[in-house]
Amino acid sequence: MTGYRPLVFAHRGGADALPEHTLGAYLRALDEGVDGLECDVRLTRDGHLVCFHDRRLSRTSNGKGLVSRRTLAELDELNYGSWHPAYPGDEELPDLSRLLTLERLLEAVRDCGRPVRLLIETKHPSVYGAEVERRLVMMLRRFGLAEPKPDDPVHVTVMSFAALALRRIRAQAPGVPTAYLMELLPPLAGKGKLPFGSRIAGPGIDLVRNRHALLPAIRAAGHRTYVWTVNEPDDLELVLRHQVDGVITDRPKFVLDRLEQL
Ligand code: G3P
Ligand code: CA
Repeated sequence: MTGYRPLVFAHRGGADALPEHTLGAYLRALDEGVDGLECDVRLTRDGHLVCFHDRRLSRTSNGKGLVSRRTLAELDELNYGSWHPAYPGDEELPDLSRLLTLERLLEAVRDCGRPVRLLIETKHPSVYGAEVERRLVMMLRRFGLAEPKPDDPVHVTVMSFAALALRRIRAQAPGVPTAYLMELLPPLAGKGKLPFGSRIAGPGIDLVRNRHALLPAIRAAGHRTYVWTVNEPDDLELVLRHQVDGVITDRPKFVLDRLEQL
């Protein structure tokens, strides 16, 4: 495997060690040396994009109910770190307890002083209509990220399980690369093309384990592969054997340490 090294992405900031989607988790992953970060984005009731995975607040905050029903100000009152075993008691740790907006994450990535690849996954386009992608493209424009150039320090790829979301991104920001996420779907139906000009396939590790022909077929079709969520040693060895282009993991330090041995 000489010369081969996949990109390493901290899934939700590296959700194993620290509360997911917090600024503290993302900054730590950058310190550890990841190539990039993965985040999910949702809309608040008043139209702000926030980094949050679930529809509901209860798993990763001390709140209840739907994220989409609350304003940013209301969401800001909750704690997003205290649910996690690594959260240190009563200490006031804003980077590990505050809701992270996409805007704040983009500022942090812009200001961190080194190249970063950011994978932004839009959640549930059917619920929000086209609004998530519309607001996302507006935000990328504000940060000068909607028309990427090769030497830009920050590179954004938009990911989705929904082809519709990829179509919206392509229509509004055709230069922004997209990744088509796959969980259960059979790969590369038809002529092996991904939807709407997407050049990156993002299969889940279960799919990779169960469909041995998947990764070779993706490569044969000329696409790159970013596999999620690779947390276990056997899974990491599997994707390294396949020489995937990107490893999305909750345990970036574990993956980076293994790559040192390549
Ligand atoms: O990186 C893709 C992966 O994050 C998709 O699954 O549920 O963790 O958003 P999920
Ligand atoms: Ca995700």
